[in-house]
Amino acid sequence: MTMKNPFASLAPAAALLLAACGASQPVQPPLSEAPLAGSSIGGPFELTSSDGNTVTWSDFDGQYRIVYFGFAYCPDICPTDLSRTAQGLRLYAKDEPELEAQIQPIFITIDPERDTPEVVGEFTSNFSDKLVGLTGTPDQIKQAADTFKVFYARGEDQGDGAYLMDHSNVTYLFGPDGAPLATLPTDLGPEAVAAELAKWVR
Ligand code: NI
Repeated sequence: MTMKNPFASLAPAAALLLAACGASQPVQPPLSEAPLAGSSIGGPFELTSSDGNTVTWSDFDGQYRIVYFGFAYCPDICPTDLSRTAQGLRLYAKDEPELEAQIQPIFITIDPERDTPEVVGEFTSNFSDKLVGLTGTPDQIKQAADTFKVFYARGEDQGDGAYLMDHSNVTYLFGPDGAPLATLPTDLGPEAVAAELAKWVR
């Protein structure tokens, strides 16, 4: 004969309550479980904004950061990734406007020869007013790309001086302290991006 657990009958009700809360507020795992927690991705850089000002990584301290490396003349992948990130942020802002306001998306070119501050500014304005575009000298870009574990190389020539760039297309999410948290699944669409933000931004 065993004692009847007095709380046993409460369990189903509690589970229902949790499920109801889960609908509006996603379950947030501890930050220590973030996929990129503890990895050595990201860090100090000195680059130039589209209005010609010097911008450093620490300028974004206190803000969550989304970082994407690409190039303005990219015919498909960069524009797709950036527009899905921008749409994901807009979706997330509907649920969490105050948290969304703490996220700064950043685009860094890996084609500094062509992507002048002006070109980068025009490019980023296609996606969001919020998106900061950065360029720099070839050395500054190389250093930043290495720090963020991003590969790039000049790719196929397209004639008349035009060329493609091969590059990693990873969309990183960093915390307000600059530590890496996760990658954003732009390949799965804006809803998946918003869901990933909801998991780690708090
Ligand atoms: Ni690209």
